[in-house]
Formats: sequence, C-alpha cells, structure tokens
Amino acid sequence: MTDVGRHPRIKLYVLSEVKEVKGSVGNFKVKILKKARYVDEKECTACGDCAVVCPVVRPDAFNYGLSSRKAIYSPFPQAVPSAYVINVSECLGHNPAVCAKCVEACKKGCISFHMSDEEITETVGTIVVATGMETYDPTEMDEYGYTRFENVLTSLEFERLVNAGGPTKGEVLRPTDRKKPKSIGFIQCVGSRSAGKGSSHCSNVCCMNTIKSTLVLKEHYPDMDVKVFYIDIRAFGKGFEDLYKRSRRLGVHYLRGLPGTVEENPDHGLRVAVENTALGKIEFFDLDMLVLAVGLNPSDSTRTLQEMLGLQLTSDGFFLEAHPKLQPVDAATRGVFYAGCAEGPKDIKESVTQASAAAARAIRLMHKGEILTDPITSEIIAEKCKSCGKCAEVCPYNAITVDVKKKTPALVNTAACAGCGTCAAECAFDAILMNHFTDRQILDQVNALLIEKPEEKILAFACNWCSYAGADYAGVSRCQYPPNVRLIRTMCSGRVDEKFIWDGFLKGAPVILVSGCHIGDCHYIDANKWTEKRIEKVHKKMAKLGIRQERLQLEWISAAEGTRFSAVMHGLEALRKGVTAGEISETIRILMAS
Ligand code: FES
Repeated sequence: MTDVGRHPRIKLYVLSEVKEVKGSVGNFKVKILKKARYVDEKECTACGDCAVVCPVVRPDAFNYGLSSRKAIYSPFPQAVPSAYVINVSECLGHNPAVCAKCVEACKKGCISFHMSDEEITETVGTIVVATGMETYDPTEMDEYGYTRFENVLTSLEFERLVNAGGPTKGEVLRPTDRKKPKSIGFIQCVGSRSAGKGSSHCSNVCCMNTIKSTLVLKEHYPDMDVKVFYIDIRAFGKGFEDLYKRSRRLGVHYLRGLPGTVEENPDHGLRVAVENTALGKIEFFDLDMLVLAVGLNPSDSTRTLQEMLGLQLTSDGFFLEAHPKLQPVDAATRGVFYAGCAEGPKDIKESVTQASAAAARAIRLMHKGEILTDPITSEIIAEKCKSCGKCAEVCPYNAITVDVKKKTPALVNTAACAGCGTCAAECAFDAILMNHFTDRQILDQVNALLIEKPEEKILAFACNWCSYAGADYAGVSRCQYPPNVRLIRTMCSGRVDEKFIWDGFLKGAPVILVSGCHIGDCHYIDANKWTEKRIEKVHKKMAKLGIRQERLQLEWISAAEGTRFSAVMHGLEALRKGVTAGEISETIRILMAS
C-alpha cells in the first residue's frame, strides 16, 4: 500500500466512492465522490496529538469494537496516506464554544472544518474491480449466542485478538474477565454451506484460517484445550494438508458435527451441545471461549457496481467472469477485470495471483493503444429510427445512447457493443442492422430449411455459446436425436426476433424451438431475459390468434447438456407428430390474414 501511495503514476483516492461510470473500453469516464477528511493529508504527520485531546470515544471498527478510538483518528496503523481523519457525524463541532480542541492541539494547523466533499471525473482506459467481500453477520444464528454471550466471537474478532498489533497486543484474553481462557472451540461454516440461514456457497478460506488460528494458539499456549467443530475440512491448497495434520498432531481436537445449541454457564463459560456424527451421539463440552468461523459474502457495493458497469453476478452474488477457464479475470464488459474476493471468496495467495493477472490483462490492452473488436456489432439505420429508446433499454452493455427528448437517432458505441443482437430483435421499426447474423441471412435460412416438406421439420434457433454447443456435444457423445431437426445458429437467444418465429410458422413449421444458455449463464450478461419476455409475448399473441402455444418452445440448454439436447429434440419430435396438416394450413391462413 505504501508503494502504491508513493508511486508517481498511481493516483490513489481514499475516502472516495464511485458514483457513475460512463463510456467504454479505452474511454471510461468515472465520476468519483471524494469525501472531506477535514485534515490536510499532505501535512498531517499522524503524531496523534489531536486524538489525545478529543473528548469523543467510539468503538474502533478496525478492531471490531474490541478497543476504542476518538472522533479524530487514524483508520488503522498501516493506513495510506498516513493521516488522521475526522468522522463528522461523531465530532462535537468546530465551534470553539463546543469543542475544537483538536484544532488547538495540532501544531501544524492541518485541521480545517471548511473542507467539503469533492466530485472528480477521471478518464481511464480499463477498470479493475477489486471490491473485496463482507463477512457474514451471525446475529441471526441465535443458537450460537453471538449477541447474548460476550465470550462468543467471530473469526475476525479473534484475528484482531491474537494480532500483536491488536487491542490485547496479541494476548488471548476472555472478553468477560480478561483472563486467559483454558479452552477454546471453533465452529466452522457459520453462514456458509447452509440451506437455511446464511449462504449456500463454501467460503473457501475458513477451514485454513481456523487451522492457522489453532496453530497460533498451540504455539503460544501448548496446554490450551482447542476444539474444532466442522462438517468436513477443506484443506485443498498447496501445503494445506500438512498444516492440518500438524494441528492434529499438536493435540487440537477435530470433532465432526456442528453444535446445535450454546448456553452460558454461571462463570461465563459456554456449554456446547453437539451431535458427534462420527460417533453418532450427542456430546456436551464446557468451553471458556467460542469462535464462529463466519463465511464470506459479496461486498455491499457489488450491486451498485454491477449496474454501473453492466456486469454479471453468479447465483451467490459475486461477480461472474467472462469465461471460467479461458477468461477467468475478465468481465463480460470489455476493458473491465476482476481481482480478489469481488469474483468469489479466496485467500491472499489466490487474490495476489488474480490481481497480477488482472493487471497484466489491463496492461496488455492499454499497451496496444488500440483494440480489436469482433465485427458482429449493431448499426442504426438513422432514417428508420424513431428514437423510442427501446434498444438502449435492452442493451446489456449500455452500448446504445439515444436522446428520447431531442428525437435524434440512436447511436451505437461499437467498442462497447458485443453483438448479442437483442437490440435488433426488440426494435419495432427494423431500424437496427446487425453486421453478420443479419435479418436477411436468418430469414433466408428459415426459408431454405422449410422449403420442402416443412411439416416434417423441427425448426430450432440455438445460441452460439450454449445450445448450439450442446448440439455439438450431443453429436460427439453419440447421443441420438431426430434427424429432422434443423438448427439456425444465432450469437444469443436474444437475437431471435419475433418475425423469425412468425416467418417459420408461415412457412409451415409444425413446431419451433428457441434455445439458449440457462438464465444467469447468458454470455451477453442477461440478454436471455429479453428472450424469455419475447417468447411470453409471442405465446400470448398465439393464444389470441388461436394457434396452439405448445408449438413454440423455449428451452435453456448448456454446452455440457448433450443428453438434455437430445431429450428436448425427442420431445419436440413427439410434439411435431401431434401437429396435423390441417392445423399447419390453418395457422398459415390465420397468419396471412392477420
Ligand atoms: Fe446463450 Fe445469450 S449467449 S442465450
């Protein structure tokens, strides 16, 4: 951090918040709100004279409330810049009649109550999202008594307690009597891997963090009784298994089973009831202190940034990478990269590895000075555009701008456009032309595939990344599926325009399938949610026209679901056999008349 603070080509904005991001790769405009510090960060030497005289005492968030700080304080000893800051909501005020003691105490005159928040706009070429994570708040897990019993701590509170720079200078003391505990228990997976309270994902680091803590305890207090209550120990990293075995060798008792209840004894000790699943019996343990190994959740800012940058999230709420194997640090939005726990819970080593990779990916782009993009982008036909704004609304990348009030034609930023085709499919005025996968090309394919014996064909639109790859996988896996399936590839299911479907029915298709990636897996952020809405709309129109809705199917098939692809096609074939020649010609008649 110190190096970052000193680097001549790095601008560090602390106490700041990103308010808005506009633009695209090579030209992002980032609006930042820099909050007032009320202390001149260049002049302050962090001598602490101001804090000595400050009368306001508050819990120190850095030590999780295990120590206190003043209203003017240094956030933590290694903070960069090394300067004090005033929390104005706690400060008594600068009116000398009220307080202003810090102003008097600061010999260098660094404190000024006239500072105000500043709005800054920076233009940057690439963005690395490294928003970190939050720990799970175990308040709702009342069975562990976190809010009822002082001697129940979270793993991070315990971390501060054993830290040499922490509130007890590294001495492990029980909060109730400040005596050294004779026994400590750790409960694993608090708020992780849970079907009820907390999250279902594994937080990745808790097992090893606990093992490390047990080693620290055994090193300093060899006689201490240390117990770990766990579901299973995940020691999968390099050298981790050795650490686990060392912890067991030093006498740490690992017990398979999570406690059901925790009660307090009269001496503030804790009675833990646990089902030992290895022995199949309920056991009770009296412990002096209990540490809850709390899980990791996405940072609070994740949702806001997701909207600002047009990013994707996984079902557990962390950012989703563009490809888990081939682009593990890239976001789907070009020029945006991930580092650390923003993308998922990870330890320090993994975070450093990912941050290095993200920096290298960003440098690679910046160094070139220009970027190459796929030519599959959309283009506005200005004379047809009615400036309705629908294209801008549906674009997952915010690549389209349109001034609805001025009625000027929409504009596509081709550097930001990823070519999903959702805008073209949603435009009611045919004012968007896709470069590649044009309307003409797709409609010609529909015509060609249905030109002969259409009643025997199954027309299927498949997105390039999942369903089309699923068909490939079905082929290489030797899965049988009806030979009368005719596939039309689009980059995304979002490209499947209503008119392609109507044209298919008009040409005599008995059944039509639209297929794409599962919801949440679309390679164009969330473009397939528009597919879903569109199909719903078409289904309603079919019902009104008296056309059976089952004849239009929507299925999500991933690239790994070859067998599912085959099963869906068999289902469609059964459906096709139920569509009579009379029904097809009646549909054609209805559509021609409408
Ligand atoms: Fe497959 Fe969007 S890329 S549905």
